[in-house]
Amino acid sequence: MKCRKCGERALVTLRRHNASFCKEHFNEFFRRQVEKGIKDYKMFDWSDKIMVCISGGKDSLVLWYLLNDMGFDTTGMYINLGIGEYSQKSLEKVNNFAEKHNLKSIIVNLDELGHPIPLLESKVKRQVCAICGTAKRYYFNKTAYEGKFDVVATGHNLDDETARLLGNVLKWDPAYLSKMDPNLPEDGEFIKRKVKPLVRLTELEVGAFAFMNGIDYIKDECPKAVGATSMLYKNALNNLESEMPGTKHYFYNEFFRSAADKFKMEEVNTEMHTCAVCGLESFNEVCSFCRMLEKLK
Ligand code: FES
Ligand code: ZN
Ligand code: ZN
Repeated sequence: MKCRKCGERALVTLRRHNASFCKEHFNEFFRRQVEKGIKDYKMFDWSDKIMVCISGGKDSLVLWYLLNDMGFDTTGMYINLGIGEYSQKSLEKVNNFAEKHNLKSIIVNLDELGHPIPLLESKVKRQVCAICGTAKRYYFNKTAYEGKFDVVATGHNLDDETARLLGNVLKWDPAYLSKMDPNLPEDGEFIKRKVKPLVRLTELEVGAFAFMNGIDYIKDECPKAVGATSMLYKNALNNLESEMPGTKHYFYNEFFRSAADKFKMEEVNTEMHTCAVCGLESFNEVCSFCRMLEKLK
């Protein structure tokens, strides 16, 4: 197989684009997709202070690597969830990466704060991924607010987003379908803009980029994610994609072209409160995270 651009031996074949690339031209393709995502969805520019949410996995590290390489002002933000060896290993990857590339990072340690995920899981009667999601959202928002960041970037890729879209479509849930945009505007003072610059790239493409550029990431999945429904949706979409290359891309883009507008929610003027416990902006008297922590008492 030869590179579509230069005719040299190709290292990657992208069936959905009907193209193969050598390392140099795959990198060029990849970068262009990220630039296009940022530009098309008007995510941010060089004057913005960007907080990149890092897990130690390939997506977030690739995103951090590229945004930094493109000259954006980035700080990585990692939450140590306190999930045994998985958290230890991922923290190690994040620290090594930040050091190697001389990057700024902020680490929040749930163990030190007294509420690691396994403890919350034992006390709160909800699915562990939902508990973890609430904790992560809270600390992402809090850190971005306190650090005066303009925008919060996450490494969600096309596979993540199409799996989420499929899940929301199967339930026809308008509230969730209205939140699919890879550039979600800020909400009040506390909740900053959230963007997903890797949304034009598949998991496989992100993995290939990490491999070719020597990005060392944690390969294990979170042990708590075993059996998550999102994996079911990803597998279903992978089956479709292998029979019909381009399905994910089409499904996702057509949603925004033909359907997303129909799910736009009316602007509801919800009265904002100050959380009586943590003092941050909240939809209720006590924010959902502090209500969860009350269960530990
Ligand atoms: Fe949150 Fe696994 S990453 S439960
Ligand atoms: Zn080439
Ligand atoms: Zn609170």
